[in-house]
Amino acid sequence: MELFGLTSGCYPLGMAEPDPSFCQAKALAAQAWAEVCELVDLQLSPLGLRAMEALAPKSGELIVDLGCGAGQTVVQLADLVGPDGRVIGVDIAALLLNLALSRAVSLAQVSFVEGDAQAPRSDRRQPASAEISCH
Ligand SMILES: C[S@@+](CC[C@H](N)C(=O)[O-])C[C@H]1O[C@@H](n2cnc3c(N)ncnc32)[C@H](O)[C@@H]1O
Repeated sequence: MELFGLTSGCYPLGMAEPDPSFCQAKALAAQAWAEVCELVDLQLSPLGLRAMEALAPKSGELIVDLGCGAGQTVVQLADLVGPDGRVIGVDIAALLLNLALSRAVSLAQVSFVEGDAQAPRSDRRQPASAEISCH
């Protein structure tokens, strides 16, 4: 399956083939993240805000947030690009994407894609104004 130029499966960095055990490790990490996401958001927020300050998104731009987690940065980016812009949150963990979706449900300019940002990309990518990753 291919979505937004992302191939499904979990690819360890630099590997050409997906690795199911890597998927399990990512799923476990996502579960832990989901349990404490409010606290982790508080801790990470200053870093995300610094990254956004450097990126300086403009109204109407399309921004892709790679590894969007529970959606804190997506919601902040949506505010910066405004209703005419678009933010696509990409994460490997369905559990976190569900949380992100619930946080952004009222934001029409936001959508989410489940996928591995490290996976090989096709040439069918949609052009974005910027890609951001706040890890
Ligand atoms: C530090 S969190 C990001 C938090 C988010 N940017 C925020 O500030 O709310 C890292 C996220 O990256 C995701 N992730 C890790 N490896 C990934 C990959 N290869 N592709 C997509 N997402 C990935 C994890 O599932 C996790 O949700």
